[in-house]
Amino acid sequence: METDQAWLPTAAFRAVGSRHTLVHGTGPLVDTVHRELAAGCGRFGGSVVRGAEGGGSCDLVLELGGDAEALGDEGFTYAREVGRTTVTAAGQRGLLYGLFHVVRLGEEAFHGERAQEIHRPTTALRMLDHWDNVAVHPVMGQVERGYAGGSLFWADGWARGDLERVRAYGRLIAACGINAVAVNNVNVHETEAHLLTDRIGEVADIAGALRPYGIRTHLSVTFAAPVVLGGLPTADPLDEAVRAWWAGATARVYEAIPDFGGYVVKADSEGRPGPFADGRSHADGANMLAAAVAPHGGTVHWRAFVYDHRQDWGDRTTDRARAAYDHFVPLDGEFAPNAVLQVKHGPMDFQVREPVSPLIGAMPGTRLAVEVQATQEYTGQQRHVCWLGPMWSEVLRFRPEEGVSVGELARGGLVAVSNVGDDPFWTGHPLGQANLYAFGRLAWNPDADPGAVLDEWIGLTFPEAPERLVAGLHDVLDGSWRTYEKYTAPLGVGWMVQPGHHYGPSVDGYEYSPWGTYHFADRDGIGVDRSAATGTGYAAQYAKPWAELYESPETCPDELLLFFHHVSYGHVLKSGKTVIQHIYDTHFEGVEEVEEAREVWASLAGLVVPARHARVTELFEEQLRSAREWRDQINSYFFRKSGVPDAHGRRIY
Ligand code: GCU
Repeated sequence: METDQAWLPTAAFRAVGSRHTLVHGTGPLVDTVHRELAAGCGRFGGSVVRGAEGGGSCDLVLELGGDAEALGDEGFTYAREVGRTTVTAAGQRGLLYGLFHVVRLGEEAFHGERAQEIHRPTTALRMLDHWDNVAVHPVMGQVERGYAGGSLFWADGWARGDLERVRAYGRLIAACGINAVAVNNVNVHETEAHLLTDRIGEVADIAGALRPYGIRTHLSVTFAAPVVLGGLPTADPLDEAVRAWWAGATARVYEAIPDFGGYVVKADSEGRPGPFADGRSHADGANMLAAAVAPHGGTVHWRAFVYDHRQDWGDRTTDRARAAYDHFVPLDGEFAPNAVLQVKHGPMDFQVREPVSPLIGAMPGTRLAVEVQATQEYTGQQRHVCWLGPMWSEVLRFRPEEGVSVGELARGGLVAVSNVGDDPFWTGHPLGQANLYAFGRLAWNPDADPGAVLDEWIGLTFPEAPERLVAGLHDVLDGSWRTYEKYTAPLGVGWMVQPGHHYGPSVDGYEYSPWGTYHFADRDGIGVDRSAATGTGYAAQYAKPWAELYESPETCPDELLLFFHHVSYGHVLKSGKTVIQHIYDTHFEGVEEVEEAREVWASLAGLVVPARHARVTELFEEQLRSAREWRDQINSYFFRKSGVPDAHGRRIY
């Protein structure tokens, strides 16, 4: 089967490809812009010329120039007067993004007048982290938490020889605003460690395939590299020989990849090596690597996902949710300017509902990047439709303190764990493409309305779609995250998944495990007391208004109640329902919503390319089976625990 064209189908270029365009400027990305236009014109009868002259009769002018200070390298202006649309960018990347802006607008880009608009990304770094292994891992497979087949970059133990798909990927993700990719798993195993040194040539090949679309390549490295690759006795970040080793290795990386983005590091996390072994801090570790990349203009993304994964489940004072804040806030101000602390958006691990991490906003002296998960590890593993735009939007618009939003606080970038593999549809579930697209667009503008982003994706992916198809797709996707939330773990408590692979329900799967992921359900109630007054004190890690709001079950928002509080099954929510009745109702509703979505999808047969329609239809069967399984297990579990019958007498086992 041919690779799906996702949101850049041939027809998306109809408007621009049937116009006369002038491209003014020189450079490799300007060449890309020209190539894109030439291909579009080849299909739709327009023309494209290069140079400063001959623009008199052009419908579209794309030009390098403009105010470098106002636009930066990536911004552009867009204006329309009768008969002429003009995009001006100070940097080449800006011109490329300007072109894709015009492509997105389609015909609209050429009609009527429009005063000059300035478009600039809020965040300079918009990155996808691939959790790809080069060698197939015995437990995790090739792509850790990957649900879209094998790796796009690596096959049979090597970088792919044919990088055509990688090029196509670069093009796709550039079209939604992504400008950086990390090409290997944060858990760096033995084979992958060598990408840093003797196998850097393979990374350089991939970087070469992504570069024409303005995408810089980053690499995950192991903190123990000086030991495992360099033969040194220690990886101590303050040891001179270790520092010299990193400086040398990094210089060679830049010889191979002059525009290399930098390192991604998971250290002292879930068993990975890190500075703790030598009694050093995370700032010591990050700064040592930051010093190695600084002369070359690189950045270190140091992950804040640090917690005790060997905790005693009987110890109710240790709280995994507290860990990132407790580890890192005392280090605020100590990180080098090119060391970015990469924080997961919630304090736990990409659950369907979590509060925003209290670390975000609590480290004003540190550059933070915020990490979300496009790969649907805990949200249906790309077998379920779960459009995450609304969740990410809530996170990005959250204001930890008065004024500044998470999207603005993420000065070090917005990062998503990629949901892409070598699957012909890119993302396994064809509708999972919407997540990839939405991430790019929200990273560019965290304030964007997610519903509008969804419609934009629909418009591009299904060009010239009849209204019924547009409305149907919108229906199927728009509420799917909330639907997923309804039939899985209730009220923010999280987890309840099968241990290890994390698919499907297992209410107590992690209850007596060392991972710090508990719900504490007993015959009287459920939830984790994270209040300052009687619980773990986690609620007090927030700035005042939120700390106060979360502290009391009376003011805590319903959807997070069980994340913050242990309450009785009879506790009455703001909605007026008891917790137990809420559990029953949402689980029945969630399944009904999946049934409805499946019907809507079925009604779209004939309007969607058959292969795509068939794939989604098949996946809906599995989603429905799984949703029913979740409903029945969760409802039965809580009925048996509480003894409280469903007010509506529905079937519970
Ligand atoms: C989750 C995920 C792991 C991953 C980890 C991380 O725990 O299950 O596979 O390695 O996150 O973000 O580092």
